[in-house]
Amino acid sequence: MSETSYAPVTEHLDDPDEAAEEGRRKMDWALQHMPILSNLREDYEESKPFEGQVIGMAMHVEAKTANLVELLADGGAEVAITGCNPLSTHDDVSAALDAHDNITSYAVREVDDEGYYAAIESVLSHEPTLTVDDGMDMVAAVHEDYPELIDSIVGGCEETTTGVHRLRAMDADGALEYPIFAVNDTPMKRLFDNVHGTGESSLATIAMTTNLSWAGKTVVVAGYGYCGKGVAKKAAGQNANVVVTEVEPRRALEAHMEGYEVLPMAEAAAEADVVLTTTGNRDVVTREHFEVMPDGVLLANAGHFDIEVNLDDLDDLAVDRYEARDGVEAYELPDGRRLNVLAEGRLVNLAAPIALGHPVEVMDQSFGVQAVCVRELVEHGDDYEAGVHEVPDDLDREVAEIKLAAEGVAYDELTDEQREYMGSWQHGT
Ligand code: NAI
Repeated sequence: MSETSYAPVTEHLDDPDEAAEEGRRKMDWALQHMPILSNLREDYEESKPFEGQVIGMAMHVEAKTANLVELLADGGAEVAITGCNPLSTHDDVSAALDAHDNITSYAVREVDDEGYYAAIESVLSHEPTLTVDDGMDMVAAVHEDYPELIDSIVGGCEETTTGVHRLRAMDADGALEYPIFAVNDTPMKRLFDNVHGTGESSLATIAMTTNLSWAGKTVVVAGYGYCGKGVAKKAAGQNANVVVTEVEPRRALEAHMEGYEVLPMAEAAAEADVVLTTTGNRDVVTREHFEVMPDGVLLANAGHFDIEVNLDDLDDLAVDRYEARDGVEAYELPDGRRLNVLAEGRLVNLAAPIALGHPVEVMDQSFGVQAVCVRELVEHGDDYEAGVHEVPDDLDREVAEIKLAAEGVAYDELTDEQREYMGSWQHGT
């Protein structure tokens, strides 16, 4: 393994102690609203399930993630972490993590491309035995550049849809050489984080970044998947006229039956006050769409990578480019129309200057699933072959039960007769 190529966050900050204090304050606030992580942490501090493990992480380094990282460290692991997007890191939180004895944080906001990948290498210089990723960049670096680490890696966890897609493609090619849990695909993650989390935080971030209202606006939501459904529903709830674009016929039909207008992007673009992409795909908004958009349109992306709105096309068309507000770049076209891009086309709810990411409560669920999955890999990693794995249902249920108990919500249990009935093919009319 090469020497550490990117320094920990503290070496990039003027006053790391002050930053760490502020980061700690943010983490404490979040933790007060994270009953699942608090519950698991109490247990893991006692039982130390991660003793002897080295966990390499590439995630959005902000207060909620930091509580997951600290839980893993307090459960006995050595943790090395960096960001999974150059604009989503909170340096103060990164500094607070780095101040922990068992944690090294390399995450720095506004790192350039070279620094971003060098920081991943620095994490890998700790020789992880487990990886926890959001978008799969760490797994890619292990396989492409440090395959010698694979033998001692027990397994990994992936947080987001795009990461799981990439991993499945890698698995189908026979190239994935250790087991990885698709944390994204669990009910406790996807039905809450992608739907409510992305819906609420994307809309809140856009409204705060622009100081504009949703009421009466035509909002074009590209992609009616888990994230798109949340965005569409919550935009409609704030009195926007929602238009959906899709490429998958059943999703298009679902949006239609929900009462949204469904249009091809070429037509939707001409009506849009706001376009928000949530597809995980590239080139969803391109030159032909920019050419018909009204003056003043807002363009934002909530998908994982900054490839959904083709900014090269927009740049080619523009005669001028300037910062209209913090986090808003106006591209002026020859006919005087201004098209406003938020957060450089990166995922807006995490990368805009004022972005805070998802609400705390939903990340408590997602990270609760991460925590039990890491425990499962440490305890039973040998039971899983190389490849992408669904998270065992009992682990997802465990997290739901902790949350329901914390919320004081009681629910029914199957009787023995009901259980037997549901499991039998012999009962008919
Ligand atoms: P999903 O797979 O449920 O939905 C994506 C939808 O986009 C699908 O229905 C697909 O048919 C559609 N689509 C693909 N190409 C399209 C195109 N050219 N035009 C219109 N529609 C198209 O995925 P999910 O869970 O909704 O995630 C979407 C993206 O959001 C992923 O990149 C994921 O990693 C990211 N994500 C972002 C979060 C955030 O905090 N901003 C949180 C969770 C996920």
